Amino acid sequence: MRMKKKRHGTERIALLSQLVSREPASLVKSVETVYGNNNPLRVEIGCGKGDFIRGKSVQEPDYNYLAIEKISDVCTVATEKYAVSRGLGNMAANGGWQKPDGTIYPLGGDEVDFSDCDKGNVRFSVGDAAMLLADFPDNSVDAIYINFCDPWGKKGYAKRRLTHIGFLDMYSRILVKGGKIHFKTDNRELFDFSLEQVEISKFDLEYKTYDLHNSDKNDVNIETEYERNFSAKGFSINMLIAENKK
Ligand SMILES: C[S@@+](CC[C@H](N)C(=O)[O-])C[C@H]1O[C@@H](n2cnc3c(N)ncnc32)[C@H](O)[C@@H]1O
Repeated sequence: MRMKKKRHGTERIALLSQLVSREPASLVKSVETVYGNNNPLRVEIGCGKGDFIRGKSVQEPDYNYLAIEKISDVCTVATEKYAVSRGLGNMAANGGWQKPDGTIYPLGGDEVDFSDCDKGNVRFSVGDAAMLLADFPDNSVDAIYINFCDPWGKKGYAKRRLTHIGFLDMYSRILVKGGKIHFKTDNRELFDFSLEQVEISKFDLEYKTYDLHNSDKNDVNIETEYERNFSAKGFSINMLIAENKK
């Protein structure tokens, strides 16, 4: 995702540290402490500005969600938008954070204390999901969402695609049996490649469509930012769901 460098991006996300997990592999081991319940954990890889995870967390609230984004400034925006959507305050005029009770936390100061607030069921992590998820324990995740990831279309780059068998094997390990991958893309070549990889993996294909917006899943679909842009340009959206058979 392209984004102009944010002013004070690092300080801004530091203020919202209580919504951010620096070590997601250990978050998995303390789900109840972090989220205040023991609901199953779902992960989105490459959340962008967080439109999908905000919608999903409200549509299916009986789960906990971790949204991973490798670009820090993009994750800052996703975390701030989530905080606003959950009534946790707003960016203050000076770039700090203002809680609903009026308390202002200035940039570069202490992290915002949300201990008196309901922080909801989403946390964010900055980093490369490939590295972060490799440290996750077996059977610790209920579902994985991958929306409009980089196609890595050039020859020789197949191993970098997030649906390459190397990644599918890792997802299979960290997902519970019966856990699912949900994958959307506008890129037909990447989609066909992904179907082939699922075929040789420990996943069973449960559902596929080459035209999500005209499918029976459209009414529960949560559009992402990229999805809106691509479909406005006339691209049809491909989606697959695959179930972990282990
Ligand atoms: C094309 S954008 C799509 C954003 C969003 N999912 C959407 O559909 O609007 C892909 C995003 O995934 C992030 N990303 C790509 N590879 C990643 C990885 N290995 N780990 C975490 N984030 C990644 C990029 O930084 C970018 O923000």
